Amino acid sequence: MHNNFTKTYPDVQHYTSIDSTNAEAQRYLEKNNPKDLLWFLADEQEAGKGRMGSEWVSNKGNLFCSLICPINWDLKLLPMLSGLVAVTIHETLSQFIGSSNLLKIKWPNDILINDSKISGALIENIINGANKYTIIGIGINVISSPNLDIYKTSHINKHLENHTDVNEVFLKLKNNLENRLLIFSYKSAAIIREEMLRNAWKINEKINYISNSIEDSGIFVNISDDYEIIIRTDTSLTKLNSGELKIIRN
Ligand code: BTN
Repeated sequence: MHNNFTKTYPDVQHYTSIDSTNAEAQRYLEKNNPKDLLWFLADEQEAGKGRMGSEWVSNKGNLFCSLICPINWDLKLLPMLSGLVAVTIHETLSQFIGSSNLLKIKWPNDILINDSKISGALIENIINGANKYTIIGIGINVISSPNLDIYKTSHINKHLENHTDVNEVFLKLKNNLENRLLIFSYKSAAIIREEMLRNAWKINEKINYISNSIEDSGIFVNISDDYEIIIRTDTSLTKLNSGELKIIRN
């Protein structure tokens, strides 16, 4: 099941194949109460999970990982964790592709390049009395991207002359995410919000969205300090969280 990666990095559980690294992290937390960060990395996933019950196509050569992180910050900061993850993936992809204007964060935490999705994140919180954990699942397309009907996709190597590989991307992401988590606080949350806004897809533009099962449109004007999206329509200013609003990509 595990291979050599785990020998070099004791904080990484590496699987050649698994249903979902997020599911495996959940199973781990049913039996353990880790004090430190613990990574789950898989070469491929048989049942990769996306946000809002979607599937995450998980072919070999791309990155599928989840991080178990004990929550040792104020729970009110939790919504901004989604922003922390978004800016960290954006930063990591910039280190490979260059901080091109093409890389954008689609709220809450998709990364798009040229309007095509290259990465997504699924954050699941396990709060059980005094035991508080977040599982940060991240998928990054490195060597290939699936052909999907619902949206356009891309991958890192499509934008590189000298190709990279999944291990290189994982180690950069690991480093960047661990560094940012170490200093996660109200102070860094304010900086994360600004970084998100600088790189936000469709900021100050009209977006179409679904909220309460109703399709609507409005101008995406801001992100609040609890990482809600703020939308202006002719009649109102609405602030909604990522469970309440889904941006439609057209
Ligand atoms: C999305 O954009 O819908 C979120 C995609 C998250 C995919 C990653 S891949 C590693 C981890 N394990 C999963 O089953 N999902 C996340």
